[in-house]
Amino acid sequence: MKKADCVVAGCRQVVTCGGGAPKRKDALGEARAIENGWLASDGGRITFAGTEAEFRAEVEPSTDARRIDGAGLVALPGFVDAHNHLPFAGDRAEEFGLRLKGWTYQQLAEKGLGIKTTVGATRRASLEELTALCLDRLDRMLLHGTTTSEAKSGYGLNLADEVKQLEAVRAAGLVHPVRLVPTFMGAHDVPIEYLSKKEDYIDLLVHEIMPEIRRRNLARFFDVFCEKGVYSLAETERLVQAARAAGFGIKIHADEFVPLGGTELAAAVGAVSAEHLIAITESGIRALAGSATIAVLLPGVPFFLRLAAKPPARRLVDAGAAVALATDFNPGTSMTESMLFVLQLGVFTLGLGVEEALNAATANAACALGLQGEAGSLEPGKRMDVVLCDMPSYEHLAYHLGVNPVRHVLKDGRLVVKDGRPAYHSPAP
Ligand code: NIG
Ligand code: FE
Repeated sequence: MKKADCVVAGCRQVVTCGGGAPKRKDALGEARAIENGWLASDGGRITFAGTEAEFRAEVEPSTDARRIDGAGLVALPGFVDAHNHLPFAGDRAEEFGLRLKGWTYQQLAEKGLGIKTTVGATRRASLEELTALCLDRLDRMLLHGTTTSEAKSGYGLNLADEVKQLEAVRAAGLVHPVRLVPTFMGAHDVPIEYLSKKEDYIDLLVHEIMPEIRRRNLARFFDVFCEKGVYSLAETERLVQAARAAGFGIKIHADEFVPLGGTELAAAVGAVSAEHLIAITESGIRALAGSATIAVLLPGVPFFLRLAAKPPARRLVDAGAAVALATDFNPGTSMTESMLFVLQLGVFTLGLGVEEALNAATANAACALGLQGEAGSLEPGKRMDVVLCDMPSYEHLAYHLGVNPVRHVLKDGRLVVKDGRPAYHSPAP
């Protein structure tokens, strides 16, 4: 018999998103829903997912096992937000107002607004302030069903402030239930002090900042904004080779606005993901289809920037690329912590089916963080990270808009959201 110290009983549906990941082509469209589904875990890991009859035959819960009533609820794997810029200070509501009057994101960046505004605010913030901001945002993520999240630095752009951002992520992760995966993105932009000497900043990144971030073990991945006016393809290549040699996994912000070939480079160097891809070319699509690199799509960005162009999700899926969805939560191009909203944008603006968008936000997203053995599906061996939604069936994830259906959330078998409210008590950082 399988052991269990936590049981979720009698769900309307348990949607496992199981069956291996990353999911490509037709497999992306299979949600694997179990009607009247039960779940069990022991020590925070799933030991069982199946029907009531199977549960009764296979599982022996401990006498003091926690039991959660799933009646009327749909159970999903916790969302995995594989791309966001969590530790920033300030906001850009003023710039947002200008954009609504017709200024473009690039025009504002050329005027010295954009990322540079947030770099200033983030440099001025203390570690404690940044940590508090992260915790506040993590609460919102969790209440909307995210149980695992990336967190990119990249608004410090010098050693002290990049370290400060990643220390804030570490401090928040120590006390908050959401599991955090930190990414060092010192190459998010060129700092104003180095605008006329970008090579010197790249040298600084390679010879001083990267080794120090590694020495402090502050980040698992390295990311770079490969874009016209930011880092060229050759500069990106130099940075990712150095990052790989230093021991980071590689992610690339690729082909967001102007196609420079960052996607092809990501596939060629074995990056875990190529992210954005609004302007990806046919050769980029072919490169991803033939590689393990995950295509992380961020539909919040074209929506928020009101761009007609979108990442070609359908063409990527049909070609055989492994597609994931993420928020890109940041103050300039996607001010949302909600993976549910992003899933809906995946359906309404990228042409994904509900099952495809759900797998992209869970199973495939876990692959984009190297966590496919831990998160992204409700299968034995994975973490008991479960979102219980008050809805008649999982199709309502995209059908019923503008509401939050998340009733309960379990993280590692612990009830951390109960009746739509935080149910954890973290000590102050
Ligand atoms: O992912 N593309 C680069 N970085 C962010 C935007 C950051 C900002 O505007 O503050 C993005 O879209
Ligand atoms: Fe981003």
